[in-house]
Amino acid sequence: MALSISFLMLLTALALSPLCFAFPHGGPFLFPQFYDRSCPKAHEIVKSIVAKAVAKEARMAASLLRLHFHDCFVKGCDASILLDSSKTIVSEKMSVPNRNSVRGFEVIDEIKSALEKACPHTVSCADILALAARDSTVLVGGPYWEVPLGRRDSLGASIQGSNNHIPAPNNTLQTIITKFKLKGLDLVDLVALSGSHTIGQSRCTSFRQRLYNQTGNGLADFTLDPAYAASLRSRCPRSGGDQNLFPLDLVSPTKFDNHYFKNLVAKKGLLSSDEILFTNSPATKKLVELYAANGELFFQHFARSMVKMGNIAPLTGSMGQIRKNCRKVNHA
Ligand code: HEM
Ligand SMILES: *[C@@H]1O[C@H](CO)[C@@H](O)[C@H](O)[C@H]1NC(C)=O
Ligand SMILES: *[C@@H]1O[C@H](CO)[C@@H](O)[C@H](O)[C@H]1NC(C)=O
Repeated sequence: MALSISFLMLLTALALSPLCFAFPHGGPFLFPQFYDRSCPKAHEIVKSIVAKAVAKEARMAASLLRLHFHDCFVKGCDASILLDSSKTIVSEKMSVPNRNSVRGFEVIDEIKSALEKACPHTVSCADILALAARDSTVLVGGPYWEVPLGRRDSLGASIQGSNNHIPAPNNTLQTIITKFKLKGLDLVDLVALSGSHTIGQSRCTSFRQRLYNQTGNGLADFTLDPAYAASLRSRCPRSGGDQNLFPLDLVSPTKFDNHYFKNLVAKKGLLSSDEILFTNSPATKKLVELYAANGELFFQHFARSMVKMGNIAPLTGSMGQIRKNCRKVNHA
């Protein structure tokens, strides 16, 4: 009797803590086959809805790629960015880098509801963001990579994290390097991932400072090509036009290629945070020149760095939850 009771207790202990035995270092790893049994159609469903959205509007590829970045830099890749404000949550959508700027939430909603129909309560919103970022990249001509999966969704959001951890376009290179380093990302990751700005748009307000008063002496940023600066000023005046949109890559704004890096070499990077990669440090300058000359190498490094970024502090195992609606936490 005593023996069978302790045997039962042992069984119970084993049943309660299988993850502790299998993953002594704090939770299981992400792996690409995570949904192969539980939701074999997941990849196809995400891809088809992303493809439809990008066919309707090419910029959506950029917007979905950026959502994954802004998710991962705040409390890890846990879909915290998707939560709307509620009684207990201040949405990250209200932060300085996100407000009037991040977009694509309706596309994520559409993917989520299709996935809930196909395999209820199985695919996390955080994994949807990671897959949508990859599919978006491929759809506009960028590299393919296998996306490690198995992330779970957060129970909260952090607007402070969003304001503090996401780099700003007028941050110094040192500040940006530090913000990446805090997420485990190095100089190669920084330069390769900045190559995302080969697609998408920026508002006037994100780079106006460069056009009129970069260093507080009333002069334009001298690292900006004068003719390019003049053309930007025509639609980004000293005051007004804050929301006017400009391509981050003036040569091929809807194609994922290495023109972004060629533009930096030609002093035609749109954001200060772009151009300083070429002008402010020999190490990042070298990488910019390398990618400008070798698009294949940029693609390889980009794919590798996207996997690295996607691995930032995921919730796994029994942490967090699988949200039913990406905009709100499930009720208990
Ligand atoms: C290195 C530091 C970075 C800074 C300072 C930065 C800043 C910005 C800014 C200011 C915009 C324009 C936002 C607006 O005016 O509405 C933007 C757009 C964008 N960013 Fe970044 N970014 C950085 C890194 C990244 C990374 C790592 C990724 C992806 C992995 C990324 C992807 C994008 C994309 C795709 C867009 C265009 C979005 C759209 O058109 O909807 N950025 N970024
Ligand atoms: C960066 O831009 C923000 C928002 O426009 C502004 O408040 C801040 O003063 C700028 N910082 C620097 C160092 O120019
Ligand atoms: C440029 O910025 C400096 C410092 O922020 C400010 O004192 C000066 O008035 C500005 N000059 C112009 C021409 O806007």
